[in-house]
Amino acid sequence: MPKFSFWLCLIIAATFGIVVNSIENEVKIYWIYQGNTTMKLTNFGARIISLVIPDKNGKPTDIVLGYDCVEDYLNDKTYFGAIVGRVANRIGGAQFTLNGSHYKLDANENQNTLHGGRKGLSQVIWEAEGRYADDEGLPLTFFYTSRDGEEGFPGDVLVRVTYSLNPKNLRVELEAKALNKSTPVNLAQHTYWNLGGHNSGDILSDEVQIFASNFTPVNDQLIPTGEILPVNGTPYDFLKSHKIGSHINEKGHLLRNGYDINYAIDHEVKQKSPVSGCGCGFQGDDGERLKLAAVVRSKKSGIGMNISTTAPGLQFYTGNYLKNVKGKGGYIYQAHAGYCFETQGFPDSVNHPNFPSQIVKAGDYYSHETLYEFETK
Ligand SMILES: *[C@@H]1O[C@H](CO)[C@@H](O)[C@H](O)[C@H]1NC(C)=O
Ligand SMILES: *[C@@H]1O[C@H](CO)[C@@H](O)[C@H](O)[C@H]1NC(C)=O
Ligand SMILES: *[C@@H]1O[C@H](CO)[C@@H](O)[C@H](O)[C@H]1NC(C)=O
Ligand SMILES: *[C@@H]1O[C@H](CO)[C@@H](O)[C@H](O)[C@H]1NC(C)=O
Repeated sequence: MPKFSFWLCLIIAATFGIVVNSIENEVKIYWIYQGNTTMKLTNFGARIISLVIPDKNGKPTDIVLGYDCVEDYLNDKTYFGAIVGRVANRIGGAQFTLNGSHYKLDANENQNTLHGGRKGLSQVIWEAEGRYADDEGLPLTFFYTSRDGEEGFPGDVLVRVTYSLNPKNLRVELEAKALNKSTPVNLAQHTYWNLGGHNSGDILSDEVQIFASNFTPVNDQLIPTGEILPVNGTPYDFLKSHKIGSHINEKGHLLRNGYDINYAIDHEVKQKSPVSGCGCGFQGDDGERLKLAAVVRSKKSGIGMNISTTAPGLQFYTGNYLKNVKGKGGYIYQAHAGYCFETQGFPDSVNHPNFPSQIVKAGDYYSHETLYEFETK
């Protein structure tokens, strides 16, 4: 049981350029800012609590869903703002076989595993480390060691996430090292965005473009069938920018009250990733290429966001299951109050040899970087 203190509704740590060291087992809130862009995070689940940027009229706008108090995240079922893993997304039947060994995982959604199980990375306290600001903005780093057998997964895994904020972008670097056994690793950032403002109502009129010609269809429990099919002719086709709501009610496509589907991102190269923000110990993948995965824009605020990533997949989720969730400032989130663009590997890869592998061999590293670029007009 994490130790929570009374001050958790207050901003207590980390202004620009100050080193922050966490006390083990304590939940804290961290505040970082660059120009008029400010961000709040917590080491509980390495979560983003808020990201405030000026809208087209200069009004500060919080574009991520969340709660006022960190305590609210303890019983949270939405994964608001969290890093999810050790294996993000679903694993069918809560099991897999690796090199002849069979692993039974924690089944936390029907008979399947979702986002690493009941006590996945989103539900644990991470250690935090702040750094002095440099030209790349202030990185805030969270660490966690996932132990052998945690939620059923093999071997100890050291996980690290680095958030680097700039006035016009946020870089998220996810890294892991399999310390002593081979294990699947698939990490994702699970922020629910609403570029019109977290309390601006549904996102159905926002325009989205997803640079993916193919997607991985799912069965009625949202487990991939193993096929990789063209989006062409389906409501999953976002190759041309259009309103999220325009095909959301089309019948016969297993659209359950909205999108919750993995896209295979096309391999168009966008830009070379600059040298990683921290370069501290982990085997860097500096220069690994980021692909533009999605572009989203809100007419309400004029805020747009480009998402580029090194990951092969993008889970597009339109907050379908939000219902009467009491969020920041007492605002009640309902279905479609936000969208998630979860860059990651494909769901249930451990059970589909034709999907890109998520196995990290003992002693090897995992890394995944995503850049969120903001533009207001
Ligand atoms: C921040 O916002 C204020 C008020 O809108 C504005 O005057 C100022 O230029 C902005 N600063 C930056 C760095 O954008
Ligand atoms: C894995 O390695 C860590 C140190 O890196 C060690 O503490 C732990 O006991 C090892 N676990 C197993 C199951 O070998
Ligand atoms: C599977 O086992 C073989 C033989 O021990 C080993 O060489 C290989 O690296 C293992 N593969 C994984 C993914 O652990
Ligand atoms: C976002 O991507 C589009 C290409 O679709 C590009 O025209 C635009 O300049 C990009 N914006 C940012 C802020 O990178």
